[in-house]
Amino acid sequence: MVDSGKFWDAQAEKYAKQPIANEAAYAATLDRTRYYLEEDQRVLEVGCGTGTTALHLCDSVHEYVGSDISQGMIRIASEKAFERGASNVAFKAAAVGEIANKNTPFDAVLGFNLLHLLPSLDDDLKRIASVLKPGGLFISKTFCGLGPKAPLKWRLMKLALPIMQMLGKAPYVRLRKESELRGQIESHGFEVLEIRHFVTELSVPFIVARKLA
Ligand SMILES: C[S@@+](CC[C@H](N)C(=O)[O-])C[C@H]1O[C@@H](n2cnc3c(N)ncnc32)[C@H](O)[C@@H]1O
Repeated sequence: MVDSGKFWDAQAEKYAKQPIANEAAYAATLDRTRYYLEEDQRVLEVGCGTGTTALHLCDSVHEYVGSDISQGMIRIASEKAFERGASNVAFKAAAVGEIANKNTPFDAVLGFNLLHLLPSLDDDLKRIASVLKPGGLFISKTFCGLGPKAPLKWRLMKLALPIMQMLGKAPYVRLRKESELRGQIESHGFEVLEIRHFVTELSVPFIVARKLA
């Protein structure tokens, strides 16, 4: 299996240029996430990619940290933040499992389009819970699979995935049913507050979970 950091590093420039696939769903995700954020909060985004979401959301909170396993993604995110003069956001290269902020826990951790890419999801959820304040929120949006209306392009991609992975052209991917993902999040001391679906043709649940005290 291809190394995640190296794979995503190689994708970083291309990823930065890709348009948002579904603008309406993305705007709805941002709006619903903002609903939960407050001006005095510290927020960590894991797997932040090139910082697009961070730069949309950082104005809503006091301090925003974006982290990603790929140095290339973080370099682009940091350049974008500098160009925009975003002063309350910092980007750090780190895998989810490496984040360590137990002394200054976060009010919220965000992880978008990420959980299906993590080979050790249980370990990573444990680490996410450990850096959150009691009552803090874990907000995620995760690709869980193709719905009955999935476009042909996505069906073909799913068929080709194992071959692409063997050739090092696709990352680790593990698709879980929404119910399984929900159960896994709950098993790490979270209660799920809401699940929404902003994308209709694929299964991409937006899940808001609160860390139990
Ligand atoms: C599909 S991209 C999503 C990026 C961004 N969250 C978005 O929604 O556009 C997945 C991101 O997760 C990062 N990633 C993959 N495995 C990771 C890990 N174990 N820890 C932290 N980041 C990881 C990749 O480098 C990549 O930037």
